[in-house]
Amino acid sequence: MATILVTGGAGYIGSHTVVELVKAGYEPIIFDNFSNSKPAVLARLHKITGKNIPFYSGDIRVREQLEKVFDENKIDAVIHFAGLKAVGESVKKPLEYYDNNVNGSRTLLMVMRDKGCKNFIFSSSATVYGEPDSVPLTENSPVKRANCPYGQTKIDVEYMAEELQKACPDFSVTLLRYFNPVGAHESGLIGEDPRGIPNNLMPYLTQVAVGRLPYLNIFGNDYPTPDGTCIRDYIHVVDLALGHVAALNKLMNVPGVHIYNLGTGIGYSVLDMVNAFSKAIGHELPHKFAPRRAGDVVQCYADPKKAFEDLGWKALKTLEDMTADSYNWQKNNPQGYED
Ligand code: NAD
Ligand code: UFG
Repeated sequence: MATILVTGGAGYIGSHTVVELVKAGYEPIIFDNFSNSKPAVLARLHKITGKNIPFYSGDIRVREQLEKVFDENKIDAVIHFAGLKAVGESVKKPLEYYDNNVNGSRTLLMVMRDKGCKNFIFSSSATVYGEPDSVPLTENSPVKRANCPYGQTKIDVEYMAEELQKACPDFSVTLLRYFNPVGAHESGLIGEDPRGIPNNLMPYLTQVAVGRLPYLNIFGNDYPTPDGTCIRDYIHVVDLALGHVAALNKLMNVPGVHIYNLGTGIGYSVLDMVNAFSKAIGHELPHKFAPRRAGDVVQCYADPKKAFEDLGWKALKTLEDMTADSYNWQKNNPQGYED
């Protein structure tokens, strides 16, 4: 079976994808520098899969560290998760974000080209669509200049990979634009473990639920939506992981640039999420209304039809699965991965 290099494989989405790759019969190799993850995830992956997943400690910006992996293994495809992802931090540290995300991806693509590995799957984001003119978003919706350095790095890497594919037509470049990943593996052994105070809604909700934080601030209740709060397309991380397996199954060695939205197609408001979460924990989750957060788009949800038609993939898990699994992970690991 094919060997898949998973950069950022110790992270939130990467670790869940590693599990689904093993289940599907692929042989993943993890490459990570633990800048936003912990080594403890490796033992958890062993527990879930029963396999020792090969691991390389390294940084995608360091060519020799990447070359070593390609020299020691025949890599059939790369799924590229490694990157920095905090919108607010990217505004304060733009050069660090361009260095890690853009230079790191460029180094990875150079090594792939030079070592003859032609299958590249990239973690892009719905952020490339900016403030949508209309929803749902299709893959043909316009890509706009991003409103933060993080978003711009996603656009830049998309373009860079597309240009490489033009220059090397036998490359298979797959750009997966994720909507809002939430949830955790049903075992409760792996999940999202942000450092410091979470920026994103679901980890904030789970940390309030276990008493690590006192209440949720809902950023804005005067948006032009039915309940005044912003709307997003939350997708269970295991469904998202399976989207990568579907992409590998269908697109490995299929030259071209392949672009897919990975979302459910359903938009939920922040209040919908708070209510669903309150149901999962059996009491109302403490929350307050706060001013709008700068840079938030009003609503963002996918038209996921193309992924279903081409890849046979669609998200199957419900909002109840997402809240229950997120809560289960946090309950079992109130302080996240402890090293
Ligand atoms: P994460 O931070 O949990 O995982 C990223 C992993 O990459 C971490 O384990 C980190 O240690 C590693 N890493 C970072 N820089 C590295 C480097 N230079 N060299 C080697 N390893 C490095 O994030 P995630 O939520 O799993 O996201 C994975 C990818 O998906 C990222 O590229 C992110 O931008 C993208 N994405 C995430 C979301 C989201 O909401 N979680 C949405 C859209 C796109
Ligand atoms: N929210 C709150 N309170 C919080 C956290 C979030 O009310 O404490 C609200 C936000 O205002 C937003 C919604 O919950 O309306 C979702 O916010 P997230 O931060 O969870 O997600 P975003 O849609 O803002 O951001 C996500 C990814 C980014 C990516 C962006 C666009 O985290 O990486 O989608 O694709 F850039």
